[in-house]
Amino acid sequence: MIHIEENVSLRDYNTFGIQAHARYFCSITSEHDLLALMRQEVFKRNTHLILGGGSNLLFTKDFDGLVIKANLKGIDLKEQSEDRVTLQVMSGEVWHEFVLYCVHHGYGGIENLSLIPGTVGAAPIQNIGAYGVEVNEVIERVHGIDLLNGEQKSFTNEQCLFGYRESIFKHTLKEKFFISSVTLTLTRINHRFNVQYGALADTLNALNQPPSLQSISDAVIQIRKSKLPDPSVIGNAGSFFKNPTISKTHYELLQKEHSKIPGYPSVNQDIKVPAGWLIEQCGWKGKRFHHVGVHAQQALVLVNYGGGTGEEIFQLATRISKSVQEKFNITLTPEVNIIGE
Ligand code: FAD
Ligand code: EPU
Repeated sequence: MIHIEENVSLRDYNTFGIQAHARYFCSITSEHDLLALMRQEVFKRNTHLILGGGSNLLFTKDFDGLVIKANLKGIDLKEQSEDRVTLQVMSGEVWHEFVLYCVHHGYGGIENLSLIPGTVGAAPIQNIGAYGVEVNEVIERVHGIDLLNGEQKSFTNEQCLFGYRESIFKHTLKEKFFISSVTLTLTRINHRFNVQYGALADTLNALNQPPSLQSISDAVIQIRKSKLPDPSVIGNAGSFFKNPTISKTHYELLQKEHSKIPGYPSVNQDIKVPAGWLIEQCGWKGKRFHHVGVHAQQALVLVNYGGGTGEEIFQLATRISKSVQEKFNITLTPEVNIIGE
């Protein structure tokens, strides 16, 4: 029998550190647990929210339903050849610990994704990415349970419809599919080191280190620590918005007025513009409003200094979006999952 708690504080379960309560809360450690839970009235009668590490969520009010914390653990070596290894990893494993495990065992492909908070199960949901690598590059399959009928399902990489901070799990299957494990294939030899990202190459140079799984992981950790606030010190959920993509014509028009506007080629000749730059240009960087604010080192990160509410963060995000829309005619889309609006 799964233990269902009532009126549980979620403050320690979200990296924004927002105080909100779940009407019902339980933690599950196996697919078997989930199937048993699905037979209970508390599941059938309530809306539910699956929770990983809570590092990409904003609670704007109490959650009047059932929060299901995914706590499935284990790493299973499925296949190994001279040059590759395939691992099936349970969704409740901590992503960064898994990255360190891979670096330690000499498995290559996710070292650039070091220090991203959260769980393995959430990694495919927004196709986590950093420093030139996205997790879809190594994912073979995503396994789990259909929350409508309890059927076990497995999605191939192609079926996951991965894109920049996108996948089928964020859209068609949002809150309809429980991810129980992820299968990834990594390199054992001939690693394809990705050190194109400017800051990464510079840090490796400064450390006087040739690219290796360990040196890349170390450099990424160093860069991230210098720019991003540690959620255990200042509440945040990483980038609050996605980097927007605009047409080349729109970009060229903006360049006339803002000659320094950064832009990177995206698909269909579109241009990706760093949202952090847009937000900084609107004057928000480092601004504090009572308990909440915009991080001084990274304008794309909204922070809770302590005691802030989800609604305060949400209102700040809305004001930021509005100003970017007015100044640049660019619509910002939240990356963070807003729960309650
Ligand atoms: P949660 O926040 O718990 O959940 C996120 C979403 O996934 C929710 O909709 C939830 O319902 C759903 N979900 C979670 N687990 C499951 C499951 N097992 N089955 C079905 N649905 C599930 N992201 C990047 O891509 N790149 C970065 O560089 C990056 N840097 C960050 C830095 C900081 C300081 C912080 C705080 C966050 C950063 N993030 C980054 C965002 C975040 O770490 C990722 O989105 C991460 O994958 C979220 O994992 P989580 O387990 O905390 O998910
Ligand atoms: N910039 C500014 N001012 C700022 C912040 C950024 O002008 O305050 C400009 C600079 O031109 C800088 C550029 O934005 O060169 C890019 O900044 P950065 O390298 O910090 O990356 P980002 O685009 O802001 C993205 C991801 C991060 C990921 C990093 C590294 C998104 C929404 N964010 O941030 O992911 O870690 O690149 O790859 O794509 C997350 O998703 O939560 C996250 C932290």
